[in-house]
Amino acid sequence: GTPAFVRIVEVGPRDGLQNEPVVLSVAQRAALIADLAQAGLATIEAGSFVSPRWVPQMDGTAEVLQATRDLAGVSLPVLVPNLKGYALARAAGAGCIALFAAATEGFARANLNGGREETFARFAAVARAAVAEGVMVRGYVSCALHCPYEGWVAPEVTADLAYRLMELGCYEVSVCDTTGRGTPERAEAMAQAAIAAISAPSVAVHFHDTGGRALDNTRACLDLGVRTVDSAVAGLGGCPYSPGAAGNLDTGRLVAMLDAEGFRHGVDAARLAATAVQVRTELRAGRPIARANPEKHR
Ligand code: HMG
Ligand code: MG
Repeated sequence: GTPAFVRIVEVGPRDGLQNEPVVLSVAQRAALIADLAQAGLATIEAGSFVSPRWVPQMDGTAEVLQATRDLAGVSLPVLVPNLKGYALARAAGAGCIALFAAATEGFARANLNGGREETFARFAAVARAAVAEGVMVRGYVSCALHCPYEGWVAPEVTADLAYRLMELGCYEVSVCDTTGRGTPERAEAMAQAAIAAISAPSVAVHFHDTGGRALDNTRACLDLGVRTVDSAVAGLGGCPYSPGAAGNLDTGRLVAMLDAEGFRHGVDAARLAATAVQVRTELRAGRPIARANPEKHR
């Protein structure tokens, strides 16, 4: 039969750049998004409406959305942590938002400055407004496998949170190995629980490559029937607090693996490779962030 299609959610312009130690300009970020769209990526996370004091790299996301509004047929989700961010996202014309609930109390406090349930309630309020206005909503479970403060996370905890995000109206939930400590065995257990809770078409997987296992972990989830994968051009997202640290799963490596395994993906590997070179070059010449919050996502 026809080879299966894997939908790639390109998160480089957001999850990648938010963790780089330099800031790219709005024009550079908009050009990056346009190049990724040219390469065939149909979902590209464009930025975040979060506190610029927490994540200075994502300041100017409204202008990035303005500059990319004419890209046809491309979905450009933006992260929204609360109603203030939602209002800013709507004013900038966002048609798709992403909520990022934490699986653990420790990560909720570090990333969102509130308790797990308290910050989930903020996301629920955002979801209610978005659903009422016909805005698409994507969900994330951060620290779905492992938390820097609380260690390993039980698959049922992640699956339960994924279910609750679907109940809020999300069209899919991305379960995230935020610290990149996962193994294929643990990734499988997580994905299996998530599939049981919300069904395979609603599950996306999101691996960081800290332990060098992001591709293996993704492969294990594809074997279970997952067909949506988050990744970042050039493997962007090296933590600013540990130079040389690996970032997100590299979209180029993902595409190569999908080709080798006989999946379709719709991405032009040569264009993607050229875009990866371009963004790496810009990052080398980039302006270092003035101040970084050591408590934020790593
Ligand atoms: P807070 O300090 O508790 O917020 O931060 P607050 O409500 O007390 O407000 C403090 C100030 O922030 C106020 O300004 C607000 O107006 C402003 P002031 O009056 O002092 O001038 N503020 C905002 N400004 C812009 N946009 C907003 C916003 N909200 C309040 N939306 C807050 C709480 C949630 C805002 C903060 O903790 C925050 O921005 N956190 C986001 C951190 C973040 O973006 N982390 C990275 C993304 S998550 C991630 O990477 C994981 C994921 O990729 C999965 C994975 O990779 O594994 C999803
Ligand atoms: Mg990430």
